[in-house]
Order: sequence, then structure tokens, then C-alpha cells
Amino acid sequence: MERPETEKYGGAMGEKVCLITGATSGIGKATAMGLASMGASVVMVGRDRGRGEAALAEIKEKSPNASVDLMLADLSSQDEIHGLADNFKEAYPRLDVLVNNAGVIRSKRITTADGLETTFAVNHLAYFLLTDLLLDVLKASAPSRIVNVASGEQRNGTIDFDDLQGEKGYKGAKAYSQSKLATVLFTYELARRLEGSGVSANCLHPGVVGTNLGSGVTGALGFTVRTLRPLMKSPEKGAETSVYLASSLEVEGSSGGYFVKKAEARSSEASHDQRIARRLWEVSAELTNLPA
Ligand SMILES: NC(=O)c1ccc[n+]([C@@H]2O[C@H](COP(=O)([O-])OP(=O)(O)OC[C@H]3O[C@@H](n4cnc5c(N)ncnc54)[C@H](OP(=O)(O)O)[C@@H]3O)[C@@H](O)[C@H]2O)c1
Repeated sequence: MERPETEKYGGAMGEKVCLITGATSGIGKATAMGLASMGASVVMVGRDRGRGEAALAEIKEKSPNASVDLMLADLSSQDEIHGLADNFKEAYPRLDVLVNNAGVIRSKRITTADGLETTFAVNHLAYFLLTDLLLDVLKASAPSRIVNVASGEQRNGTIDFDDLQGEKGYKGAKAYSQSKLATVLFTYELARRLEGSGVSANCLHPGVVGTNLGSGVTGALGFTVRTLRPLMKSPEKGAETSVYLASSLEVEGSSGGYFVKKAEARSSEASHDQRIARRLWEVSAELTNLPA
């Protein structure tokens, strides 16, 4: 029998501080909306002030009593990720839930200010670096949660250590699926490293959701995304598993899982390879100037 929402979520989100990246549109905005409507203090991260303020106003309009804040950072820049972590810690004494959600898909290889391939930088290295920089406050706030938005595309991914950033050959779909496999490998390795800390780490596939993802993609992939968008899930539906992992008592203490439709699912064989996970961790630490 379906349990009432207040019982499932403990009705205690009012004491929780949740930081959500990519909260200006799509699944991230709907996740911010969902958690704000449960009474959580929500910190939305966006890279553009106009889009951020518009999203914040929309949430405030739907939940007038919600505590919602906006912080700006372009997550393709490691300097801005450091700035975001510093600003957050200055403004908030605790962090109960970190939702790494921001993501991109690019048909052409574009490099960031740090000289890194954008898909790998935003979809993987930003999750890796921001999580590391916020781990002290997450640990001090335990029990706390890290929720990483992966994708079913992880199944088509391989980690190409010889050409992680598509310098020898770039395909948007390949870069995207590699980055999403990286999210799953990172989540499992993080959960192993956080065992006993009271901080959980889980990841998810939100389903196929009609958002801005792929808007700028050209060619067959872009055409397919735009044609199928009206048939896709709404962002609110797409955010359900993120909101569930961020708030539900049903997953209190569970860590190292991959979730689809609010239930644990099996991710690809490659995602369970601990040697690949450790090697990816080491390379990611090197690329973000963190100790391995
Ligand atoms: N839609 C799907 O079917 C689907 C399926 C599987 C997984 N996912 C994953 O779900 C997550 C959310 O995507 P979505 O579908 O909701 O797409 P979306 O509507 O395009 O939202 C992506 C969010 O990420 C932000 N973002 C992108 N690059 C950024 C950067 N450099 N710095 C800071 N923020 C940045 C965007 O900000 P702006 O508003 O400034 O662009 C936006 O808020 C992604 O990780 C995506 O890979 C989506």
C-alpha cells in the first residue's frame, strides 16, 4: 500500500539544506521545486543570473513560503566551482543534500576556460570537484546525501583512458555516454570511500524527459531529440527519482545505488569495475588538482 507523503519523507525536510546544480531548467528546476514544496531550504545553482532569477521567481510563485536562494557559477570553470563552494560555506552552516544535476550534450568538441572538453568537464569533473569541496560540510551535517544525476546512456558508455577528452576523435553521443558512465563509476567509488561517514551517495536515470537538453545539438541526434520532445516525460515526472533520493526515508542510509523510477536498478557491467573506478578517480583528481 502506498504510504502517505509525510510519512515517506518524514515531514522533516524543513530542517534540511539542499544544494542543486543545473536548477535553472528542466529536471534540476523541478527538483528544486519539489524539495522547496516539502519545506527544505533550497539553494539553486545556475550560471546565468537572468535564467536563475526567473527560475527562482517561478518557484516562489508556486510555493510562496519556500526558502529558496540562488548562487551563480559556471560549472565548466574550476575556479567558479571553488568560488561556489566558498560562497555556500560562508552563507550556510550545514548541507544535508547535494544534488549534482547540471549536464550538457554537445555535437562539436568545445573546450572550457580550463582547456578541458566541456561534456567531460561539466557532466563529470564538476560533480567530482564540487562534491570534494563540500564533503567537509556534508560530513559535519551527517546523515546527509549526495544525489548524482546519471543517465540510462551509461550503458552505451566506455571510459576511453587513451582519449578521455575526445582529442583524437569526438562524437557528441560518445562523449555524453562516457560522462554518464563516469557519473555512475564515481558514485560507486564515492560510496565505498564514504562508508561509515553517514554521507550516502546514489545516482539515477531520470527517464527520457522533455527539457532543454540537446537543444543546441545538430544532426540526426538533435533532430531526434527535438522531434520526440513532446512525447517525453514532463520535468516534474523526470525529477521524481532525484526528489525521492534526496528526501525519502525509504532510502535513509542506502548508498552506492543506481535508481530508475524510484527503485534500485542494475547499471552496466563496466560501471561495476572497481579498477576502472579507481583509475578514473585518480585521473579526475589530477585534472582537478586534488589529492587522489
Ligand atoms: N532530459 C533527459 O531525457 C535526461 C535523460 C537522462 C539524464 N539526464 C540528465 O539530467 C540532468 C538535467 O538535464 P535536463 O534534461 O534537465 O537538461 P536542461 O534542461 O538542459 O538542464 C541542464 C541544466 O544544467 C545547467 N548547466 C549546463 N551547463 C552548465 C554549466 N557550464 N554551468 C552551470 N550549469 C550548467 C543548465 O543551465 P542553463 O539553464 O544556464 O543552460 C541547466 O540548468 C543532466 O545531467 C542530464 O544529463 C537528462
